[in-house]
Amino acid sequence: MPHESAVHTQEHHESAVYTHGHHESVLRSHTWRTAANSAAYLLGTLRPHMEILDIGCGPGTITADLAALVPDGRVTGLERAPEVLEQARATAEGRGLSNVRFVTGDVHALDFPAASFCVTHAHQVLQHVGDPVRALREMRRVTKPGGVVAVRDADYAAMTWYPAVQGLDGWLDLYHRVARANGGEPDAGRRLRAWAREAGFADDAITSTASAWSYATPEERAWWSGLWADRTVASSYARLAVDGGHATEYELRRIADAWREWGAREDAWFGVLHGEILCRV
Ligand SMILES: C[S@@+](CC[C@H](N)C(=O)[O-])C[C@H]1O[C@@H](n2cnc3c(N)ncnc32)[C@H](O)[C@@H]1O
Repeated sequence: MPHESAVHTQEHHESAVYTHGHHESVLRSHTWRTAANSAAYLLGTLRPHMEILDIGCGPGTITADLAALVPDGRVTGLERAPEVLEQARATAEGRGLSNVRFVTGDVHALDFPAASFCVTHAHQVLQHVGDPVRALREMRRVTKPGGVVAVRDADYAAMTWYPAVQGLDGWLDLYHRVARANGGEPDAGRRLRAWAREAGFADDAITSTASAWSYATPEERAWWSGLWADRTVASSYARLAVDGGHATEYELRRIADAWREWGAREDAWFGVLHGEILCRV
């Protein structure tokens, strides 16, 4: 069984700080996610008997959906942050799923034998890790021959919106600086295919696609702008921004105001582009 000590006894130079943390404003975004809106590129590959590893599963809503799609198989949700697994377990229990378990671990050094899983999946995780190529090598190692490694990440520089509310460019610039100072790469979506090649996947083993989320209805605008406004002033992202000398609390409040202004505009729209890779092992 993977456990925390397996991670802590190996001081990886790859370790990065998870920029968002698990504040309620962050989980508000993660728990909206489903296999349909976040892993559609993978669903055609799934068969009812499959064993799936969902790395960086967070509060586990995608994990639970995957478990429902493999009723004769099993899903293991793996997290570096043990505190969020309580919520993940409650989600699975609430849906009456008995073929899902949750463990702690680190994608850079997975505590599983080689060829353990049919599908090894990570959604919005590689952008936060210190060594995504090493992570992909580990994901390939624990995947059975004939199985797939499936990864999807947003690309922050490719996020786009209307209208050009003053302050939102500053949000994106600050996010880039804080995430990179924490050892991550926020423009991960465009890099996934290059990272997979560097990890040793042949060109013809990689299927590379893109998909997007967009927010425009009053409910979507209120939810997206509200969670970013709150994250900007109240999550661990806010603390890391201030403690790292990237922004003052006043500047964070101005960015939160810009988010609320965008959300209040009836003609507003926001687009989030994601890169996706399905790598055949
Ligand atoms: C943006 S969240 C995505 C959560 C979930 N996959 C989803 O899409 O809703 C990224 C998750 O990856 C986890 N994480 C970060 N670095 C990790 C690592 N090295 N190994 C395993 N999990 C990690 C974080 O704790 C966080 O819960």
